[in-house]
Amino acid sequence: MAAQLLDGKKIAAQIRAEIREEVAQFVGRHDVVPCLAAVLVGDDPASGVYVRNKQRDCRQVGIESRLEHLPADTSAPQLCSVVASMNGDPSVHGILVQLPLPAQIAPASVLDVLDPRKDVDAFHPENMGRIAEGRPRFLPCTPHGIQQLLHRCDIPVAGRHVVIVGRSQIVGKPLALMLLARDSTCGPQVANATVTVCHSRTPQLAMMTRQADILVAAVGRAGLITAEMVRPGATVVDVGINRTDAGLVGDVDFEAVRQVAGYLTPVPGGVGPLTRAMLLYNTLTAARAQVAEKIR
Ligand SMILES: NC(=O)c1ccc[n+]([C@@H]2O[C@H](COP(=O)([O-])OP(=O)(O)OC[C@H]3O[C@@H](n4cnc5c(N)ncnc54)[C@H](OP(=O)(O)O)[C@@H]3O)[C@@H](O)[C@H]2O)c1
Repeated sequence: MAAQLLDGKKIAAQIRAEIREEVAQFVGRHDVVPCLAAVLVGDDPASGVYVRNKQRDCRQVGIESRLEHLPADTSAPQLCSVVASMNGDPSVHGILVQLPLPAQIAPASVLDVLDPRKDVDAFHPENMGRIAEGRPRFLPCTPHGIQQLLHRCDIPVAGRHVVIVGRSQIVGKPLALMLLARDSTCGPQVANATVTVCHSRTPQLAMMTRQADILVAAVGRAGLITAEMVRPGATVVDVGINRTDAGLVGDVDFEAVRQVAGYLTPVPGGVGPLTRAMLLYNTLTAARAQVAEKIR
């Protein structure tokens, strides 16, 4: 029987509706509108689309969005000074620096000046450290979106073997920490996993992935995960986004894996919409924390 597809678009719409309601309550209670400020450096078309989509998402749920668009030859000190002024602006609750940055700017140099309380991507070392310690302030949007997806599709994680292919700072590594934790925003059933992380130096990748109850592919290589690499009935979460002549595809050989897996996320329409929804969640979380800090 073909795998059941996990509809990320539908679940993201549910989450946005919940956030819209919570934003309205927050504004009514505090007379403060949550605000996300994005910084875009250069004219990369894909980054421009991502930022515009995020701004549209904000408008839909009642979050204010601002955009600072800087030229491609912006220097690291210039970008840091823009971020520093956003840090000091009390009407800005979340700051997002769209990646990738031009070659002359090391992302770490910008993260170092970003106020961790406004770091709604959760990439700042302090926020990563808090996740590792099991007391997160924010959760990175893609891993958190995956947890929400599993939770809302009634796919338990606790006690199961999750194999993650990819160890990046934004997906694989934080997801591993979050699924290893004792609890999650969705409760302990979406944590407490046994986690294996694979990467480009992992020998016998197929032998590892075939052991997965839940397999997450976050690599950026079209078709890397073939049907032979999937245990029959496993849940397969495809994070990859690859632009090919055939259009946008994930890391999973979709048609073949669909015949083997129990559940499968499509690309597009799987993890991507959830990533965007969780950015709104983090912006509201940041606004709540900053208002509470002022009241104290
Ligand atoms: N859907 C979404 O919302 C969303 C969000 C973020 C990213 N993405 C997509 O997810 C993909 C991964 O993104 P990322 O930022 O995590 O990528 P990344 O930083 O490039 O990391 C890729 C990871 O894959 C590993 N890898 C590369 N080739 C491999 C192979 N043949 N076998 C096993 N592992 C291999 C790399 O190993 P090494 O560490 O050894 O190099 C690395 O750990 C990309 O397609 C990206 O566009 C989607």
